[in-house]
Amino acid sequence: MKQMATLNIDGKSIELPVLEAASGANVIDVRSLSGAGIFTYDPGFLSTASCDSKITYIDGDAGILMHRGYPIEQLAGQSEHLEVCYLLLHGELPKENQLAAFKDDINKRMPVDDEFAKLFDGFNSSAHPMSMLCAAVAGLAAQFHDGLDIYNEDHRTESALQLIAKMPTLAAMTYRKITAQPFVAPNPELDYAENFLNMCFGDPGQTSKISSTMASAMDKIFILHADHEQNASTSTVRLAGSTEANPYAAIAAGIAALWGPSHGGANEAVLTMLEQIGDISDVAKYVDKAKDKGDSFKLMGFGHRVYKNFDPRALVMQDSCHAVLAEKNIEDEPLLKIATRLEKIAREEPYFIERRLYPNIDFYSGITLKAMSIPTSMYTVVFALGRTPGWISHWCEMLSEPFKIGRPRQLYLGSQQRNYTEISSR
Ligand code: SDX
Repeated sequence: MKQMATLNIDGKSIELPVLEAASGANVIDVRSLSGAGIFTYDPGFLSTASCDSKITYIDGDAGILMHRGYPIEQLAGQSEHLEVCYLLLHGELPKENQLAAFKDDINKRMPVDDEFAKLFDGFNSSAHPMSMLCAAVAGLAAQFHDGLDIYNEDHRTESALQLIAKMPTLAAMTYRKITAQPFVAPNPELDYAENFLNMCFGDPGQTSKISSTMASAMDKIFILHADHEQNASTSTVRLAGSTEANPYAAIAAGIAALWGPSHGGANEAVLTMLEQIGDISDVAKYVDKAKDKGDSFKLMGFGHRVYKNFDPRALVMQDSCHAVLAEKNIEDEPLLKIATRLEKIAREEPYFIERRLYPNIDFYSGITLKAMSIPTSMYTVVFALGRTPGWISHWCEMLSEPFKIGRPRQLYLGSQQRNYTEISSR
């Protein structure tokens, strides 16, 4: 028996179907309300499901994150990023031959041609890498537009392969640009994360000198960032894609949304904050600033719209962070000491406990990337690289079923109708 919700308003009683979730919250289907001249109001979408999806499930209270039913802890501990990309795209873990073919498909598409690389000539070494990445991915729309039929599944799969393949190459090119170094071509002999690190830190034409610990830590960072349900940047990709826009343009819109410090830009902001705090003796002062309503300062890397106990990715990231610091023999990293003190105080402070503000993935990813000698301005680029399979999987999922253009309404609080007056009489 289908469950119904009854809305009584303006003397009318409106029956609304309740749609049942496979896991988590059921939803009230309010689509019929517009016909009754009523809108729901939910700025920030705290209580709004924008779509249905089978890709990722999050339980914020229980600290659960699953991709296609597989817990993030298992994927981070036993899988590799390209296998998770396959899982997000196709819904099942690949067999050995399917994974080998997928890796080959990605490797073949990693190179960026010299003509396209000239796009980077328009930037100088002070350009923010996220701006360059956003422009470069939008530029791919120029290369892959004519003849691209978004309603053709093979074309959607090709777009996904191109984006997953080219993102590490373009991301590394932004790093080489800000460090004024020549580009390093992708090496098909290397695994995905090692290839990215070699394109960043390697020498053109030389064999890779990337340590397996660094490559493994980077691959784990990619896995932990791969997808996260309907977060701001994924919702941006879906909204842009709902207009039937070119998928590369839709992903570029997602990159732009991710850049904000409230979202993917938080990892960069965490490091800036730790450097701003500067000394462990000043941690308490900054915690007080974060609690002060009159002060715009926030503890970057803390809080989450969905996770209200702990971010399961942060726990995995914390382990990975310590492994990298141990290899680099910098366990007494001053910023880590400040971060550890910050986390301890925040866990004891009523302000943070009442608001259920816990460290999120960005809190530890920033310190790990710093230990890997990745410049702060590249942190959100690494996040975008990891998140690409999530973005494109949601785009493919939306395009594979009937969809409507995203077009929210509003609560109008402006002027009533009035007549235009000549400037002389104003
Ligand atoms: C990511 O959505 C996703 O899934 C995102 C993400 C993904 O994988 O895609 O997980 C990645 O974006 C992680 C979040 C990274 N951002 C940060 O670390 C930036 C700092 N955090 C805050 O900006 C904030 O916590 C948000 C944006 C993450 C969540 O904001 P919400 O859910 O809209 O909560 P809110 O702003 O309404 O805050 C509720 C209360 C407020 O106080 P009151 O008005 O109730 O008194 O908590 C306070 C806020 O002032 N608060 C903080 C705080 N975060 C919230 N106070 C101090 N420091 C903070 N970090």
